[in-house]
Amino acid sequence: MGNVMRVADLPTPALVVNTPAITRNLDTMSAALPGARLRPHVKAHKCTALAREQATRGHVGFTCATPRELLGLADAGLTENLLLANESVADARLRAMADCGANVTVAVDSEATIDAAARNGINNVLIDVNVGIPRCGIPADEAGALADVARARGLTVLGTMGYEGHAVLVPDRAERTTLTDTSMATLERAHAAVGGNILSGGGTGTYDVNTTATEIQAGSYALMDTAYAKLGIPFELALAVVATVIHTNAKWSVADCGLKALGMDHGDPTIDDATVIFCSDEHVTFAPNTPVRVGDRVLVWPAHIDPTVAYHDAMHLADGPGVDASVIDRWAVDLRGWDPPT
Ligand SMILES: Cc1ncc(COP(=O)(O)O)c(C=O)c1O
Repeated sequence: MGNVMRVADLPTPALVVNTPAITRNLDTMSAALPGARLRPHVKAHKCTALAREQATRGHVGFTCATPRELLGLADAGLTENLLLANESVADARLRAMADCGANVTVAVDSEATIDAAARNGINNVLIDVNVGIPRCGIPADEAGALADVARARGLTVLGTMGYEGHAVLVPDRAERTTLTDTSMATLERAHAAVGGNILSGGGTGTYDVNTTATEIQAGSYALMDTAYAKLGIPFELALAVVATVIHTNAKWSVADCGLKALGMDHGDPTIDDATVIFCSDEHVTFAPNTPVRVGDRVLVWPAHIDPTVAYHDAMHLADGPGVDASVIDRWAVDLRGWDPPT
């Protein structure tokens, strides 16, 4: 067994997945939202191997944030039902999606995005409705008229989409539910004017309180992060960055996992049995409760999974928690970047 690689043997910083934990997360979600009730968002993991795990559990429709993600899934043979839940006016990318051999739907929220979809051969659209987060999406009152414009351009309007991103991380479940209900009432109002069968919305934080959307676009639930872990939802932290201790002194220690290996917009990462002091480009400075030595490995838990994964080329699958676990597989983070696959 001399050549079994352990997590502690990986060059650092590196993404490590606790395989039993991710398996439990995938199974828990599949039991809660079986089949087409879940349209997993791949932006949270950018990994076709993980998307296949989701498809194996019956979720064959996927949500994408970028044309790159959608085209990568199509290349991997996951062609059944792909939604670009985002606006695009990029002719070449829309054309590539129309020609990729997958069943493709794109979100539109303006005449300009409808024009772009129609002139590049896209057939199916969802009208993206603003349900409370200041991002894309048309006001609900204007959604019906926009659907008419889309139909007049020859597009098939399959329904509406509205993402309650301002609700998903609200810690109090009752408050999260109220915000979600208000958002989904807005989406239903728009939907009554738009028509179609799909009301797409929801995320990891609202997967069980959003009972209006016909499909939930959750993504983070598979790998999780410390921000979502605070909600008390039944998903475990399954992804960490393994780092090497490169300095210690009487007051603090330093490991080689900084801003360039971590999504930081939800705050500092955490390290077990330690207090994180701050991160800089290639360093995390922390105060361990139990002394560490230069060369030791530590697991750094990110606060925001999506941008963390996007910094890395691969995830290393371990057969359990901790740095002594064995590495049993490697999944490429193959949906990164913006250019179509070559
Ligand atoms: C359009 C859309 N749907 C769904 C989600 C939910 O993703 P998650 O489950 O990671 O919260 C997001 C996340 O930002 C999103 O942008």
